Order: sequence, then C-alpha cells, then structure tokens
Amino acid sequence: MTDIEDTILRLRNDPVLFVEQVIGAKPQRWQAEALRAISKHDKVAIKSGHGVGKTAFESWVALWWLLTHYPCKAAITANTAHQLNDVLWTEIDKWARKLPAGFKDLLEFKSDKISLKGATDSFAVARTSRRENPEALKR
Ligand SMILES: Nc1ncnc2c1ncn2[C@@H]1O[C@H](COP(=O)(O)OP(=O)(O)O)[C@@H](O)[C@H]1O
Ligand SMILES: [Mg+2]
Repeated sequence: MTDIEDTILRLRNDPVLFVEQVIGAKPQRWQAEALRAISKHDKVAIKSGHGVGKTAFESWVALWWLLTHYPCKAAITANTAHQLNDVLWTEIDKWARKLPAGFKDLLEFKSDKISLKGATDSFAVARTSRRENPEALKR
C-alpha cells in the first residue's frame, strides 16, 4: 500500500482525524461523537438546538465523504431551498476553503454540485426534498 492510500484509508476510518488534520477545525465534543457515529452506522439521528454547529458538522461530513469514499454519489438536502443554498452550501464553501491545496484541487465546485475532478462517478449534489416533489431526491 502506498503512503497516500494508507493516509486516505486512515482518514476514511476516522472523520474526526479528517476534520482536525485536513480541514483544520476542532470539533466540539458532540460534533466528534456524531462524526464517529456517522462512520460506524448507516443512519444517525441527532436531537439538537439552534446555533450549536449542525451546519458545520454537515459540511464536514460532506467534504469527508466526498474525499475519502470513491465513488461517491451523495445527495445533500435540507427542508428549504434557503437552508440548502444560502446556509448549508455557503457553510460547505467556508470549510472547503480551509482544505490544503492537495485536497481542494481534487474538487470542482458548482452552485449545486461538488465533483471529484476528472471523475463522472463521484460527486455531491444539492437537492431540496419537497412534499410535492419527493422524486427530486432520486435523480
Ligand atoms: N467546531 C467548530 N469550530 C469552529 N467553528 C464552528 C464549529 N462549529 C460550528 N462553528 C461555526 O459556528 C457558527 C454556528 O454554527 P452552525 O453550524 O451554523 O450552527 P447550527 O447549524 O446548529 O445553527 C458557524 O459560523 C459555524 O461555522
Ligand atoms: Mg444550521
């Protein structure tokens, strides 16, 4: 195994390490616990209040998943277009700017999609889930 493969594998298994060493943020205790839960379980539900760091957490998960799980087809959603585009997508952008060039340069950013450069099969897309259009998430 090459050093790079070994590093990616360690980051894939340890999202807290990814957030601390690659993004350069210090997760709060609940954020670290939630990151570990996400890496172990398929479904994670978190009960939480306002302004505690949910959107930052979601942004870290999106960047971690995209950079350590290939191929990745992730639908990122929120209950309103405002939450998705103005809040969550902006927050993803905020943390993505902190990535070291070696990681940031692997990604291509559009207003509703982040792709792994040169790969058609690895991306995260922004999709609102609306009651009147539940099919939107399947595309
Ligand atoms: N662990 C952290 N380290 C640094 N900044 C953080 C951290 N968690 C959250 N933030 C920042 O604090 C602010 C509020 O967090 P946010 O994720 O928007 O909270 P919520 O979505 O729960 O309302 C945002 O600017 C976010 O980037
Ligand atoms: Mg939020």
